[in-house]
Amino acid sequence: QTPSLARTPPMGWNSWNAVGCDVDQKLITDTADAIAANGMKDVGYEYVNIDDCWSLKQRDTQGRLVADPQKFPQGMKWLADYVHDRGLKLGIYGDAGTATCAGYPGSLGHEKADARTFADWGIDYLKYDNCNNEGLPAVDRYRAMGEALAEAGRPILFSICEWGANQPWNWGTSVGGQMWRTTGDITDDWDSVKSIIRKNLTLAEHAGPGHWNDPDMLQVGNGGMSEREYRTHFGMWAMMAAPLLAGTDLAKASDTTMELLLNRELVDVNQDRLGKQADVVAAEGGRYVLAKPLEDGSVALALYNENDYAATISTSAKDAGLPPAEEYTLRDLFTHTEARTTGTLRASVPAHGVVIHRVRPSEAGDTVTPARSFGLDVPL
Ligand code: DGJ
Repeated sequence: QTPSLARTPPMGWNSWNAVGCDVDQKLITDTADAIAANGMKDVGYEYVNIDDCWSLKQRDTQGRLVADPQKFPQGMKWLADYVHDRGLKLGIYGDAGTATCAGYPGSLGHEKADARTFADWGIDYLKYDNCNNEGLPAVDRYRAMGEALAEAGRPILFSICEWGANQPWNWGTSVGGQMWRTTGDITDDWDSVKSIIRKNLTLAEHAGPGHWNDPDMLQVGNGGMSEREYRTHFGMWAMMAAPLLAGTDLAKASDTTMELLLNRELVDVNQDRLGKQADVVAAEGGRYVLAKPLEDGSVALALYNENDYAATISTSAKDAGLPPAEEYTLRDLFTHTEARTTGTLRASVPAHGVVIHRVRPSEAGDTVTPARSFGLDVPL
């Protein structure tokens, strides 16, 4: 195994939420070019991942998977070189069953050959899906590929796409996985994001360096949610130390979408070396207080309102796990502004909204807006 993989949550891009089955070489090279040029690479996006529908429906005469030459005329080795030349990594998709969800060859019973093929091509990441699994035990099917990857002679990040049905958080690490899906597929709407958050929040104890809960890929920018809902989606993925895999067509991404994906302060919270997923400090009536301890001793604190109406959410520095201090400095990670408080934290949070602050005891040199004695009100 390769303990150095995924010390922080993997970041990158994946084709599925953007184009579904319509994946091809040009999309991947365009995406790699975009990530290298638009600032995403600089903030940490690294993996360019091909999802379902990349192969031919038949294996070759030696039983190997073959990239569809219509879609990938230059082949996967060439594509991996192309992506590597831009300082990025290439991911691919397989399935722990007889066929992928879209009906392309699955790797069940072909694990060793397929892992070798991926390694030969220079693949860096395998997302391994769960369709057509013949009812065989998940742990055995995923272990077979985990072992095959370990023997393939190349570090390949192993993303267990098991949808959470068989509690992969309990065995994912032991079969060589660095991340595992905790739910079914995300769709581009608020109800989906809300229910995924609910589930994923319960699994915080299972996340850490090298092993992450995966609440599925980002839908940011795909049009089905409001700007605020996308901010909440991205902000909560950051708080939950979730893999950040952009899932939108970067060639068409709006400025708002890019600004969100490039929010370095939220990405820093996500990528913090401590590798903690936010804990639920309090939850009542769809109002949540979440705290994610960070390596520098500060805490990322989220006030999250899943309701369809605005709500005031309060907590204290103490409840958020901060050490006692006369005053705290808070930095709003969406507005990038600072304020101070004596220890009560309170905000009006709009419907489907989240307010995220990075909080630490104030230091002598802090020169921010005057301290307020009774908490912070974040205007709507
Ligand atoms: C199901 C997975 O959960 C999705 O993320 C995607 O990979 C599709 N299969 C592709 O068929």
